[in-house]
Amino acid sequence: AQAVIVAIDGPSGTGKSSTSKAVAAQLGLSYLDTGAQYRAITWWMVNNGIDITDPGAIAAAAGKPEIISGTDPSAPTIIVDGTDVAGPIRTQEVTSKVSAVSAVPEVRARITELQRSIAAAAENGIVVEGRDIGTTVLPDADLKVFLTASPEARAARRNGELKGKEAADLAATKAALIKRDAADSSRKTSPLAKADDAIEVDTSDLTLQQVIECVVTLIEEKR
Ligand code: C5P
Repeated sequence: AQAVIVAIDGPSGTGKSSTSKAVAAQLGLSYLDTGAQYRAITWWMVNNGIDITDPGAIAAAAGKPEIISGTDPSAPTIIVDGTDVAGPIRTQEVTSKVSAVSAVPEVRARITELQRSIAAAAENGIVVEGRDIGTTVLPDADLKVFLTASPEARAARRNGELKGKEAADLAATKAALIKRDAADSSRKTSPLAKADDAIEVDTSDLTLQQVIECVVTLIEEKR
């Protein structure tokens, strides 16, 4: 079989990560979480005293950290300058700052290049999840899926993930999520958007298993 390239985009809380990982594992493909890369560079900026309200300072530092993404869907890893940051990139501090960092063109150019080289190296094919994969990073992907869900469904899922780590109430989670999506959708450089040739799947009333089956079927139709 030929290496299949799958792009899965959409706003937060639509089940992108869970779906992408499961689909990749089931089909023996590599997996890349591009949100984790933007979170990782944001974590590095915060830890290195970069003023994240200053796009010039972010741009100047964009090339500095070394970012390594592991692409095994059963154990994805993210390492910045030798430090495993899988935990720290999920804090509310990083989550609240990532949109500002990821809007800077120099950051996007650098991370996009990294993503393309990882996809090109995946011999068995890869599932890449993010916001601009189908539109910008991999416009020639074999399959593009755009996941959506109602704000209520997305907030409920996000809250479920946070449970036990950082207590959050549903209204606050929903507000933060809507704010981040608005920022990601309105930025100038490759905003969150559905590619014209992407297949839209509304996951509001679907179980994770149903979404996984839907995407697997779409991939098998392409192979
Ligand atoms: O998917 P996740 O919630 O981890 O993404 C974190 C942030 O990274 C997004 O809110 C967005 O600002 C940025 N991002 C992006 N482009 C991508 C993936 C994520 O700008 N392809």
